[in-house]
Amino acid sequence: MSHHVLLILHLLAAAVWVGGHVVLVLGYVPEAIRSRDPRALLDNYQRLNRIALPALLVVTVSGLWLALNWLPQIGLWFEPSMPIALVILAKLLLLVLTLLLLAYLRLRVLTALTPDRVARLGLVFALLALLALVAAAIGPSFRYGGFG
Ligand code: HEM
Repeated sequence: MSHHVLLILHLLAAAVWVGGHVVLVLGYVPEAIRSRDPRALLDNYQRLNRIALPALLVVTVSGLWLALNWLPQIGLWFEPSMPIALVILAKLLLLVLTLLLLAYLRLRVLTALTPDRVARLGLVFALLALLALVAAAIGPSFRYGGFG
């Protein structure tokens, strides 16, 4: 697949992932914390997930593919003296943190949700949105030569 098509897929899927989480955090988290009632938040999270999880998969596959185009030798991705490798490493770190947070959400937060734990649920969504925003913000660094 051409780099251009991969980049378009990456950007469209990233927009869905980032936008969905920002809407969740700004639109539903404050009310859920105020009322200590997470039902509207969870309802929207479930609906969002139907498109957000496939979007994250597309972001990941296209991102790894784009990274391979930039640096075809995977061994070089872990060479911190290279400015482009540093951006790839930052993206990989953000992806791992996102996956860990999703696992924590599913295994620890959603399974034991009580009214006094709604704030923790909101915090997890806020962190997911923040990680996605940072990944988007550093995206253009590739074409500006990387970090360093
Ligand atoms: C939620 C996660 C992510 C978001 C929101 C995101 C967002 C973005 C954005 C906005 C760009 C800018 C493209 C441009 O300059 O026009 C970009 C570029 C890029 N991203 Fe991601 N990204 C994410 C995850 C990843 C992952 C996991 C990788 C894998 C290492 C990755 C690899 C890349 C690469 C290689 C580019 C440069 C493409 C190019 O300009 O040729 N991204 N990303």
